[in-house]
Amino acid sequence: MDAFVIHGGKRLRGTVRVNGSKNASLPLMAAALLTDQPLTLRDVPDLADTRNMVKLLAALGCPSQTTPNEHPPGSTVELAVNDPSQCLAHYDIVRTMRASICVLGPMLARRGQARVSMPGGCNIGDRPVGLHLEGLRALGARIQLDEGYIVANAPAGGRLRGARMFLGGPFGSTVLGTANILSAATLARGTTVIESAACEPEVVDLANLLNAMGAHIAGAGSPRITIEGVDQLRGADYRVMPDRIEAGTYILASAITNGEAYLQNCPTDSLIALLDRLHHVGVQVETVADAETTAHDEPSTHQPGLRDTVRVASSRRLNPTTITTQPHPGFPTDLQAQMMALLCLADGNSILTEKIFPDRFLHVAELLRMGANLTRSGPTVLVSGTRELIGAPVMASDLRASAGLVLAGLAARGATIINRVYHLDRGYEKMERTLQALGADIERTDQPAV
Ligand code: EPU
Repeated sequence: MDAFVIHGGKRLRGTVRVNGSKNASLPLMAAALLTDQPLTLRDVPDLADTRNMVKLLAALGCPSQTTPNEHPPGSTVELAVNDPSQCLAHYDIVRTMRASICVLGPMLARRGQARVSMPGGCNIGDRPVGLHLEGLRALGARIQLDEGYIVANAPAGGRLRGARMFLGGPFGSTVLGTANILSAATLARGTTVIESAACEPEVVDLANLLNAMGAHIAGAGSPRITIEGVDQLRGADYRVMPDRIEAGTYILASAITNGEAYLQNCPTDSLIALLDRLHHVGVQVETVADAETTAHDEPSTHQPGLRDTVRVASSRRLNPTTITTQPHPGFPTDLQAQMMALLCLADGNSILTEKIFPDRFLHVAELLRMGANLTRSGPTVLVSGTRELIGAPVMASDLRASAGLVLAGLAARGATIINRVYHLDRGYEKMERTLQALGADIERTDQPAV
């Protein structure tokens, strides 16, 4: 099992490019099931999760070809259905990737039936999918559980029918649930209105793709999405949005080392809550003019707010702050662990409350091993700033917790060994190379680490 060895204390400097979004790519790839024409997706990140989705779609009669690009980097994935009779998403794949659930809506809409293994919980919580099923039932689907599988069938005639529904749950809406219903409703008969839809930018990216395929969707990015069903969708050629969580992670990596990094392809508009908190803490993230970065930038593809170049610079002393994770546009749960690492070094007490996954704190015990001063009470952690973190062997546990530990390692005195980096490989493309490009002393090793 691979590990990272990090010698902390290097200030990060230089320029890196943010990859295409993992969490946008997965439902976008599943949208290939909605048409019999080819779908081309550009800037798909090369990650364990996207490879698993390629495998799952192939098993569902939708093989693909992946071509790595020279410029801009990132892969182009061409998908095309050749066998629409396959409707089984097997446990073997779903257990490696919960997000496999996002094939359910497209399969049901286009093939009239689906048998998808019920995803289990994971290290960050129970992860129920009841809202996905309620929404599909509202569209007329008959759904039952059979030996660990969700068995879904469209109403007689094989076509879902539009409906008005409420998709809010105890922790807000559901991102992949909204993606599932949105995708399914594009081919339903009549109009669907999703109230309390997830407002995450990845939902907007999916709606943009579906509209490019001929769907009629309005309101994506707001809590009410309206979908006028159409008879069929066509293929499309579409570029995936940049990964806001990867961007946030590298912004925080620069900040925690008191560095000065430039990030290209940064979706600034999607990071407002992070940038607001960083401003309070004393970290400046400013969009820089194209002219300053022409040597590295992609001027032809520059889109303000979606694909910016930003410069990160921080004060020597960081202020403490209060953060609550919330659905978008609130502070994202997927950056909570990385932000906690930064606040460990602030000058005073910060309070971090997790309102999406109240048990998403596996990094706390590991940060304590590095000298952090943390007190957890239920979904809240009091972070008392300390002057320094000290390198130690630590265990990666889930994707974002592991990213938090890498950041702590970059700032710590001495060596930090992060075991089980396969968690990171699910969501960050060659993270060690990106950090090396910024001057970090980080190596991947396959030697068992102590
Ligand atoms: N929830 C319910 N019932 C449901 C579905 C969700 O109560 O039927 C609850 C969840 O337990 C949670 C909250 O609603 O408390 C939000 O869960 P959501 O369904 O939105 O999560 P998800 O769609 O399964 C996506 C991302 C996660 C990210 C969450 C929240 C993907 C592939 N995953 O998951 O990303 O944390 O939204 O923003 O898009 C990650 O990238 O590390 C990651 C875990």
